[in-house]
This record gives sequence, structure tokens and C-alpha cells, in this order.
Amino acid sequence: MLPQNNKELKEKIERINQPGRKKEKETYVRGVFDSIAKFYDLMNSLMSFGMHSYWRKYAVRKLGIFPGAVVMDGCTGTADFALASARVAGAKGRVAAFDFSSGMLASGRHKVEGKPISLTRANALYPPYKENTFDFATVGCGIRNLADIDYGLRQILRVLKPGGKFGCLDLGRPFIPGYAQLYYFYFFRVVPCVGKLVADDYEAYSYLPNSLHTFPKQEELQDKMQKAGFKNVHYINLAGGAMALHIGQKPS
Ligand SMILES: C[S@@+](CC[C@H](N)C(=O)[O-])C[C@H]1O[C@@H](n2cnc3c(N)ncnc32)[C@H](O)[C@@H]1O
Repeated sequence: MLPQNNKELKEKIERINQPGRKKEKETYVRGVFDSIAKFYDLMNSLMSFGMHSYWRKYAVRKLGIFPGAVVMDGCTGTADFALASARVAGAKGRVAAFDFSSGMLASGRHKVEGKPISLTRANALYPPYKENTFDFATVGCGIRNLADIDYGLRQILRVLKPGGKFGCLDLGRPFIPGYAQLYYFYFFRVVPCVGKLVADDYEAYSYLPNSLHTFPKQEELQDKMQKAGFKNVHYINLAGGAMALHIGQKPS
């Protein structure tokens, strides 16, 4: 059972997650990320104790991204996952990264200059790419925010080449008793206060933990990926299950 730090916000998130309220959720989520974009990288490092870059590098390694690979990074935010993939894909590779928050893209643009990464403003429910385009697709902490996760997963499958792999890095549910309680206290109570201190935005940093209320657990997300059509779906718990990397492959 997840704790509750903001009943009103929890109810709002549950409301905008209902079918038929896609636009409302997208407008809300875009607003949250536009408003925290300037502080996003700093807050990411603070909140994860610097672990976030390690998780992305780990995901790139586990996916087997290779030099020359063509990669899509959805919900790219300030482009850190795209950068991690581009480092391995190299000059002969290409990373197509997109996000629907112009604020987040603006905060990340300087980081991709001179790199084989394109940054585009687009909605993950309608990725602007032809089918069978990418060797790999990545989404870091983005799937949770989609107004329709099942539809988003099918879109990722569509743009992957047959045999292409998808890596989804997102929040999980810690499974170690004691640690789980400590983590939830930190995530639901401390993080919003740090968000208030650093970014002067308590609500945006309350959205983050509260978005867990409607996000599938590790096994449920695995199931959703299988139902969307991915094969060889499995997940790896990171940080005791506070994060999880799900991997799936498009059938050949
Ligand atoms: C928590 S941030 C993650 C950013 C980056 N992937 C990372 O790992 O640091 C979530 C991002 O998803 C984006 N996002 C949420 N829903 C989206 C959608 N439907 N289409 C495109 N981007 C979306 C937000 O704008 C935000 O930049």
C-alpha cells in the first residue's frame, strides 16, 4: 500500500488517468515538466543521489546498443538517455529523441550540440516515425506519464525494426520490507520538500511520487508489454526495486 501525502493531488491524478481524459492528463503533465525544466537535471541528481546516469548506462549496456545503431528515445526530457545511447552508437549511429515539453527540450538542447542526436517536439502517443525504423527504443521515466500506456507501447513496437529492442526505465515498487517504508517516506515526504527548496515547486515534486498510484507494478508492466506484442519481455530491479528496467523485443 502506497502512502499518501496529498489526497487532493492523488485524486486528481486518478481522475485524469481515466479513459476519455487523455487531453486533460497531457496538459497537466506537460505543464508540470515545463515548470520544472530548468531545475530538472539538478533535481534528478539530488533525488537519485547521482544514480540516474548509472541506470541509463546500465540500460544501454543491457539492451546491447551497438556502434552504428539507430535509436529512438521517447520522452527524452533533457536528453540524458539519448546522450547515453549516442555515446555507444557513435558517429555512425543516430538517435532520434523527442518530448512534448518545449521547456524540457530547451533545457537539453545545448547538451546535444554536435552530437548525432535530433531533438523533436512530439507526443509519444504519435511518434513521428515510419514503422520498422529503429534498432532500439528507450524511454526513461516517461511511460508512467502517458495518457494511454497500452497505446504508447504499441507505437514503440510499430517504429522498431523486427528484432529491435525496447528498454523502459521507470519507477518500480521496492520489495524489501523496511527499505520500502524508508524509500516511500523519502519519496513522498522528503522529495516534495527538496523540490520546494530547490525549484520552488512543491506540487510538481508531489506529482512525481503520486504518479506511482496509477502506474503498473513491475509484473503488471511486463504483462502490458507482452500484450502490446513484445516478446522476451523481462525486467531487472534496480535500487531494490525502486527503479526497474523492462526489456522487450519486437518479433522478427
Ligand atoms: C521524468 S521526465 C524523464 C526525462 C528523461 N527521459 C530522463 O530519463 O531524464 C518525463 C518526460 O516525459 C515527457 N512526456 C510525458 N508524456 C509525454 C508524451 N505523451 N509525449 C512526449 N513526452 C512526454 C515529459 O515532458 C518529460 O520530459
